[in-house]
Amino acid sequence: MSTSQASPDKYTQVREDIAKAFPNEEYDDGSFAPVVLRLAWHASGTYDGQHKNGGSDGATMRHQAEASDPANAGLDHARNFLDPIKAKHTWISHADLWTLAGCVAVEHMGGPHIDWTGGRRDKANEADCPPQGRLPDAALGKDHVLDVFVSRMGFSVQETVALIGAHTVGRCHVDRSGFDGPWTYNPTRFSNQFYKLLLNVTWVEKKWDGPKQFVDEDEGEIMMLPTDMALLEEPFRQYVEIYAKDQQKFFDDFASAFLTLIELGMTKRGKL
Ligand code: HEM
Repeated sequence: MSTSQASPDKYTQVREDIAKAFPNEEYDDGSFAPVVLRLAWHASGTYDGQHKNGGSDGATMRHQAEASDPANAGLDHARNFLDPIKAKHTWISHADLWTLAGCVAVEHMGGPHIDWTGGRRDKANEADCPPQGRLPDAALGKDHVLDVFVSRMGFSVQETVALIGAHTVGRCHVDRSGFDGPWTYNPTRFSNQFYKLLLNVTWVEKKWDGPKQFVDEDEGEIMMLPTDMALLEEPFRQYVEIYAKDQQKFFDDFASAFLTLIELGMTKRGKL
């Protein structure tokens, strides 16, 4: 058997090694899982359905041209975190490892299982990188979110709302994006809290010297980005309301939309 065609058992071992390494008291809220999930998303979210390029196939963020996109600031933490796993399981491509690790992160944090399959290859050339600036700009609003997710990547509005629900985990870092704080009180637990808080908290503009963002009126402990607040408007809001009420529906829709996201541009499924 060729080393690139790993048996399911080999993936099981990779999954276990990733999950075992996530907890780390010295990093953020005690886990690398959120930033690893973000790596899987940013590796995939460059896909352009019209130009048929970008996407997770290639793991092109290993190259400076893509790693230096300001949107990818801080993702070196996730790439470095996965390096020892890659060193142990040399047969897996970075592109497969990054996307698999994102799925393991979701499950590890209590979210749904995602039916990940392998087959991505690493592209060796800097020239294979998508242009910078494709990832969404958190300072913008509804039209931008629709442009990126619906027009460029081909998602439905409902899938878009489900995907952004990943902000139920993790946090913003001033030294990475300029924004500050977590979206929820339990940023290492994957749940539908993001939607509940979005609908039920009184959000006010944070008074500070940084970019415009929103914080809860009472303590200013949790936050929302301008693009998150855009989900309170139609056509998004109807789905925020559904997911706030029905966590299982969110999990099902997230698992399906995230699988589509990490397979955008993968030739083996004929998605190009
Ligand atoms: C309109 C779309 C989106 C925008 C504008 C956006 C923007 C951001 C920003 C500014 C951060 C903070 C980065 C930092 O300072 O470290 C962030 C973090 C994060 N994003 Fe998004 N995001 C979007 C969609 C998504 C999607 C679709 C996913 C996954 C499916 C996702 C997963 C995450 C995660 C897990 C974090 C936390 C990372 C950490 O804790 O280090 N985001 N996002």
